[in-house]
Amino acid sequence: MKGVILAGGLGKRLEPLTRITNKHLLPVYNKPMIYYPIQTLVEAGIKDILIVTGGAHAGEFLRLLGNGGEFGLKHINYTYQKGEGGIAEALGLAEHFVDNDKVVVVLGDNIIEKSIRQYVEDFEKQPKGAKILIKEVDDPERFGVPEIKGDKIINIEEKPKKPKSKYAVTGIYMYDARVFNIIKTLKPSGRGELEITDVINDYISRSEMTYSVLDGFWTDCGTHESLLKASNLIAEKER
Ligand code: DAU
Repeated sequence: MKGVILAGGLGKRLEPLTRITNKHLLPVYNKPMIYYPIQTLVEAGIKDILIVTGGAHAGEFLRLLGNGGEFGLKHINYTYQKGEGGIAEALGLAEHFVDNDKVVVVLGDNIIEKSIRQYVEDFEKQPKGAKILIKEVDDPERFGVPEIKGDKIINIEEKPKKPKSKYAVTGIYMYDARVFNIIKTLKPSGRGELEITDVINDYISRSEMTYSVLDGFWTDCGTHESLLKASNLIAEKER
């Protein structure tokens, strides 16, 4: 199982904090944001990790993380996304690295409380397809939102005005290697990006997607409010 962390994008919603650095280098309580998704993968037993980043400050990741010794890693792989073509575009850059294996993808601004090891082990046993983790939130309209019928997710809508459930699709995704073929069929959305939600809907349409409700707290850091919330949650956890 490979691990990919997506840490590209311009982080425009966090202006002016992101004017002179990459969003994922900003502090979340006592560590740079990028530390948390690395920890998420390492704690799940994944040591073969690729970080996709971009923008003018990509070199700083290497300076900060080096070969990942602080995380017990011997090596970290890095690749560069030109521009901000979307989460699915960033993941597409990992095709050679994943090399027909299965992959756990973590968005670089997703902060969680507990280990995802059990979900990853469950996915390892899943013969094919994808698995997502969802979490109940107060503001689902900010996220990908699943429509649930019985115990099945029948569709995901990206940032719907009228959410069909109280759940957000978290930025922790598990895919088989076919994800890269799906990405090649995508067309840019209204916001000009290749959307990860379209990838998940493709798996749903083939009845090849499973899901679990994530245990423990979860937040992104895409807005000033959620960045502050992430710092407070981690500070509380460390106490
Ligand atoms: O956090 C979970 C949410 O993340 C999901 O519920 C949504 O379905 C998904 O689309 C995404 O929503 P956001 O609009 O919040 O994503 P954002 O543009 O903030 O990007 C999240 C991370 O993905 C970002 O921290 C870095 C990475 N990224 C994003 C883009 C647009 C890239 O690596 N490259 C990119 O081009």
